[in-house]
Amino acid sequence: MSAALIKLNDIQKVFYTDEIETLALNNIHLEIKVGEYVSVAGPSGCGKSTLLSVMGLLNSSTEGQYFLEGQDVVSLNSARQAEVRNRQIGFIFQAFNLVSDMNVFENVELPLTYRKELSRKERKEKVRQALEKVDMAHRMKHFPSQLSGGQQQRVAIARALAGDPKVLLADEPTGNLDSKNAEIVMDLLSELHAQGGTICMVTHDPRYALRAKRQVTLFDGKIVDDQPTANFRVGTES
Ligand SMILES: Nc1ncnc2c1ncn2[C@@H]1O[C@H](COP(=O)(O)OP(=O)(O)OP(=O)(O)O)[C@@H](O)[C@H]1O
Ligand SMILES: [Mg+2]
Repeated sequence: MSAALIKLNDIQKVFYTDEIETLALNNIHLEIKVGEYVSVAGPSGCGKSTLLSVMGLLNSSTEGQYFLEGQDVVSLNSARQAEVRNRQIGFIFQAFNLVSDMNVFENVELPLTYRKELSRKERKEKVRQALEKVDMAHRMKHFPSQLSGGQQQRVAIARALAGDPKVLLADEPTGNLDSKNAEIVMDLLSELHAQGGTICMVTHDPRYALRAKRQVTLFDGKIVDDQPTANFRVGTES
C-alpha cells in the first residue's frame, strides 16, 4: 500500500574519460517504498556507488527517469536538484566526509544553514536532537580529528539526519570501522528503520546486508537479483 519513494526507470549512466566509455549503470529499474530498508551488494566496480550517487542527485544519469516522491527530478535544474538533495536526502559515506576545520556541532549544522525557513534557534535545536540520537551530544566542541572513526561516523549520521530526510543513502558506512563500531552504526540504522526511516545501504558484508529487509545485487551495472532478505537468517543473527 505504501507509495514508491524512489522510482528509477531504465536508468543508464555512462562515464566518459579520455577515449574510454564506461557503462556504469545499465537498464536499472528500481523502486524503493517508504519505510523500506534495502541493501545493495555486488563486486567492486559493478556500479553500487554510482547507483547511490544517482539516487542522491550527486551525479546525473545519462538516460532514464527518476521520480522522487512522484516528482520527476531529472528535469529539474541544478539549483532545484541541490535543494531536493538538501531537503530530502541524507548521505553517509565510508570515509565519513566531515569538514575537518569545523567542530561536531558545526558539521551537523552545515546542511541546515541552507534552510532559510529555519530560525537560528530551531536549527540549533535540530542539531542538538540529531547529536543526541547518535549519542554524540557530549562531543559537540570536538573536531573530527579528535574523534574515533566510530564517533566520526555517528556524527556523519547525525548530519545526514538533522534535516529529516525522506531517505538515507549509505555507501559502505562500516567500511572504515572495526567490528564493534560497525555494530554500533548498524544498530543505529536498524533503529532508524524501526522508526519508519527509509534506507538504502551499500555493503560488502553479508552480516550487515541481513539487517536490511531486501537485497539488490548488481553485476556489471545491472540489477541481477532483487529479493527479500531471508527472515530466518535475520533471526539467528546475534
Ligand atoms: N567519476 C568516474 N569517472 C569515470 N568512471 C567512473 C567514475 N566513477 C565510477 N566510474 C566507473 O564506473 C564503474 C562503477 O563504479 P562504482 O564506483 O559505482 O563501483 P562500486 O560498485 O561502488 O565499486 P566498489 O565496491 O569498489 O566501491 C567502474 O568501472 C568505475 O571505474
Ligand atoms: Mg563503491
